[in-house]
Amino acid sequence: MSRRSADEHAQNWDLRHEDFNDIEFLYEVYGVMRRQAPFVHTDTPFLTTMPGSAWVAVRYEECYRILQDWQHFSSNPTPDATEAFGGDLVITLDPPRQQKFRKVLNPYFSPARMKALRPQIREETDRLIDDFITTGRGDLAQVAWRQPGIVFFKYVLGLPVEDVPLCIELTDTALNGATEEERGPAWGGLYQHLHDAVTARTDAPPRDDMIDVLLGAEIDGQPLPFNEVVANAMLLVQAGLETTASAMSWSFHYLATHPEERDRLIGEPELLPRAVEEFIRFGGSIHGIPRTVAKEVELGGRTFCPGDSVIVNYASANRDEDMFVDAHRCILDRRDNRHLGFGAGVHRCLGSNLARLELQVGLEQVLNRMPTLTLDTSKPPVFVGNSITRGFRSLPVSFDPAETCAVLNV
Ligand code: HEM
Repeated sequence: MSRRSADEHAQNWDLRHEDFNDIEFLYEVYGVMRRQAPFVHTDTPFLTTMPGSAWVAVRYEECYRILQDWQHFSSNPTPDATEAFGGDLVITLDPPRQQKFRKVLNPYFSPARMKALRPQIREETDRLIDDFITTGRGDLAQVAWRQPGIVFFKYVLGLPVEDVPLCIELTDTALNGATEEERGPAWGGLYQHLHDAVTARTDAPPRDDMIDVLLGAEIDGQPLPFNEVVANAMLLVQAGLETTASAMSWSFHYLATHPEERDRLIGEPELLPRAVEEFIRFGGSIHGIPRTVAKEVELGGRTFCPGDSVIVNYASANRDEDMFVDAHRCILDRRDNRHLGFGAGVHRCLGSNLARLELQVGLEQVLNRMPTLTLDTSKPPVFVGNSITRGFRSLPVSFDPAETCAVLNV
């Protein structure tokens, strides 16, 4: 099938379109959209809970202002949608209740708690690399997709690691299935699976993990209803796995295809934290989460009415030439990188410290143990780009198994 032009796509952006399996083409389309107007229209919004069309914010300035203005741009869709989620979710609430939810979960994502996980994350990453390190060839998508799930289930959430592959598969189909008939049952399957897993925990001795925190949480003196415990566990699984896996697979691909950048990171490991931020800005960000207009408001020359759906396109904002110098270049030591990859405002990503750490340790161990890594020319990588989180599902690399380096243990 012949490809539509960037101009045609920009008229009615549809992230599920197969043309976007080309890595950079989507950003060409965003470029056209940003030049046209701060808001463009779509008949096919990706993640919205409202039926019908939506406006998409594509420039940095308007995206940032929407994220800061929850009074007008609410995260709380409709009563029907809330019911469909199985109850109130931290991501679909507005303050003040949303802030109380965050207070319950926040301590479990604190920088100190995350830092203490570093040795375990390194061990889990190494175990995945051990599967193929002696052969000189391996699929780095396996590391990128499995590490965040293992770490999150085992050390934070407190659910069996054996459940990770099923949860990833259900989440993936729920988000990226081609039709509603495929997506609906996958949402249901994931909810049921987590419902059973949380039920099994209700009579078990307490452990210091997030399922216990949710089961024991009280907001305004009331315990969380059981359905909300399950629904928020499901949100955490969805928010934490595919996002980080996609970003990590993208970073591995970048290093395998840019040997001079790979060598620079090995030589200057102190750049890693900044490189992680740049990978999130440049390749690993989310492509749109909706807001519902709560009160009439004007922004970017447009008047929005109550009930309008507006999608914040973090990825397009992150390539806005008016905000970022050389926006279309990945600059490992970029300074003042105020990207929106983790959002902004009251809903700023709760798991950003965990995601950063998983990415950093993943990169460290891959570079330590495969400093000569490059793409395996006999098997092309598989990139899925028509998805809310875009990444590699297969990333065959080759390397010299005799070469290692140990400088990257910051
Ligand atoms: C590279 C990885 C990640 C990216 C790019 C990412 C991105 C985001 C973004 C853009 C938001 C804001 C949503 C909004 O504005 O409505 C968000 C919120 C959230 N993220 Fe992440 N995230 C990542 C990893 C994680 C991880 C590892 C977890 C947990 C294990 C997590 C849990 C959450 C939660 C619970 C929220 C909702 C917070 C709220 O509504 O107050 N995320 N994330």
